[in-house]
Amino acid sequence: MSSPHRLIAVDALTLEDAANEHAALAVEIGHHRERYYNKADPEISDADYDKLEQRLAAIEAHFPELVTADSPTQTVGAAPSSGFGKVKHAVPMLSLSNAFEDVDVSDFVGRIRRFLNLSDDTPVSFVAEPKIDGLSLSLRYEKGRLVQAATRGDGAEGEDVTANVRTIRDIPHELAAPFPDLVEVRGEVYMTRADFLDLNRAQAEKNDKIFANPRNAAAGSLRQLDSSITASRPLRFFAYAWGALSEPLGATQWESRQRLADFGFTLSSPSELCTGAEALLAYYRMIGQQRPTLPFDIDGVVYKVDSLALQERLGFISRSPRWATAHKYPAEQATTRLKAISIQVGRTGALTPVAELEPVNVGGVVVSRATLHNKDEIERKDIRVGDLVIVQRAGDVIPQIVGFVPEQRPADAVPFAFPDCCPECGSMAVREEGEVVTRCTGGLICPAQAVERLRHFVSRNAFDIEGLGIERIQLFFEQGRIKQPADIFTLEAREEQRLDRLISMTGFGKKSVEKLFAAIEARRTIALDRFIFALGIRQIGEATAKLLAKAYRTAENWRDRMVAAAAERADKRDEKKPELVGEAYAELCAIEQIGISVADDLTDFFREQHNLDAVAALLAQVTVEEYVPPAAATTSPVAGKTVVFTGTLTTMGRSEAKAKAEALGAKVAGSVSAKTDYVIVGADAGSKAAKAQELGVTILSEEEWAALIAG
Ligand code: IVH
Repeated sequence: MSSPHRLIAVDALTLEDAANEHAALAVEIGHHRERYYNKADPEISDADYDKLEQRLAAIEAHFPELVTADSPTQTVGAAPSSGFGKVKHAVPMLSLSNAFEDVDVSDFVGRIRRFLNLSDDTPVSFVAEPKIDGLSLSLRYEKGRLVQAATRGDGAEGEDVTANVRTIRDIPHELAAPFPDLVEVRGEVYMTRADFLDLNRAQAEKNDKIFANPRNAAAGSLRQLDSSITASRPLRFFAYAWGALSEPLGATQWESRQRLADFGFTLSSPSELCTGAEALLAYYRMIGQQRPTLPFDIDGVVYKVDSLALQERLGFISRSPRWATAHKYPAEQATTRLKAISIQVGRTGALTPVAELEPVNVGGVVVSRATLHNKDEIERKDIRVGDLVIVQRAGDVIPQIVGFVPEQRPADAVPFAFPDCCPECGSMAVREEGEVVTRCTGGLICPAQAVERLRHFVSRNAFDIEGLGIERIQLFFEQGRIKQPADIFTLEAREEQRLDRLISMTGFGKKSVEKLFAAIEARRTIALDRFIFALGIRQIGEATAKLLAKAYRTAENWRDRMVAAAAERADKRDEKKPELVGEAYAELCAIEQIGISVADDLTDFFREQHNLDAVAALLAQVTVEEYVPPAAATTSPVAGKTVVFTGTLTTMGRSEAKAKAEALGAKVAGSVSAKTDYVIVGADAGSKAAKAQELGVTILSEEEWAALIAG
């Protein structure tokens, strides 16, 4: 413990001090991990090492903006990933969508039925099984022998952990015959509760690292560079899926699971075959009751469509299958004192009340701040400063305050007075009709919004400009050097003549300024989806940005179509049917997953002149790459064609037809125009078929369409 400022309480640190200390700690911890894991020659006691980690965690809990993907807190005390080779997954390892409430489950089943266009009397069966929160693993068997084991990593590429995996007893080195030539078995590595407690007891006796929860213990144990350490840890594995295969394992999920068991794997159990939403919910409740007495921690159950043929038809959306979902159990909770309520101004101007808490451990993570959502929530829950509050953490979301303990309320506690002006710029804060959020009206003059927008713009999944962190953005903004995104790209040209002044005014070294300019230059060319995401438009996250990029292909085309849609919408604000608003607006709403609410946020953005100016200024500085569709989508017979489906389709659902056409590179439009290439007519087709005839557009029956795309 070398640096003196560690003696300062975390909540007394300024953001700047915290950032400096955070960086120093990360280096220090990295150094000690290298000594411990790779050199097996630690320089400090484990207790002292743990103090470093605890201090880092406390700083991150208080300043969540300092958490980076490579922070030691995100790598679970394990060896640096550089120690492992990389493995590209032949079939990507995806994640699952989530359901929390009963209605989410009936929605899930309903969505599947609609997508497949199933009649009311056609049952859909699901495999239901527990979801253990561990680490997913892909095991490759060639001719029955285990040849490679890889972690999920980012889904496309993981780490080669073959040597360690060979030490896990539940994982056969050779499959029991008969088996396909090639099979990739996927499942979860985990630790039972009893083994986890035993391990921690033994660790404590040896003065060794204590793990916060079974998941961390499993992760830390698997990602050891020394396999003998992994071998000494009680890891287990259950199989639930597969990747690449040389031949199918069965016709259903249930049969395929049975094959995995026959190969010698343990399955996730107790599992059941359920038909319909009611049966799924009954299973959920049954497992919920067993949850406290199961030998392992579970965070939910997983439902998967049983028929593999239906799974195939349902396919994927973003990073998860349409045919499966994870139904989660309620989150872990703890109680602590509410010290104060502060107000944060987000990049869209939303005023969010934040609970400042006495730090408390919630399911293995120290929490000192939690969201109170909005004014109504505070009132509804009657939360007051001084209360003993109940904090909960669910998965990756920001911790929340769910209530308070009435018996513990101090006599002098008063209701919270929500501010009616922005704490950042003093502009009026208002709540629009029907909205729950209170927003600052300061727009671009509000530093919180401008700085937040810029920060989002340069963040990792947007423009990803290295060396342009929040403090530099703040400084450049205050000095008037960067006011909007385009300014980032003109910074060097503007400062070239007076570099010395820049250096003296910012306190950066010459090297660091040069590095920053190089980092900016490196991002002058960017993918369309990142460009869209970077603009920070309300509700436009990465997944939606990708969908937009796919649909509109170039930045200019996207911008022009959005402007057109905005103009259409301006005249028809309250119209609920997209096709009655206008062609560009309907085209936008026809993109799967984009509804009126998202479309309105997009068109609101494009109606503001200052946004149009900012986008134009930016486009003058950067090159946005055209979206290039995957190979199938450029070589198929319908690639680049515009098609319209109309009438009742009999062989597939409307969404399925659309997804299929889009996967083949066709553009699916909602209305027929001279630009339409094909109109596919189902039963009872009406005006669209007539319009197609009138315009001389090729009309196809469902069968003709099927023959066309079959090549
Ligand atoms: S199926 C294509 N089944 O949960 C989907 N996943 O939140 C493959 N998990 O990445 C996943 N238990 O690590 C599936 N019975 C189970 C599971 C399970 C745990 C994990 C898995 C996955 C994550 C998604």
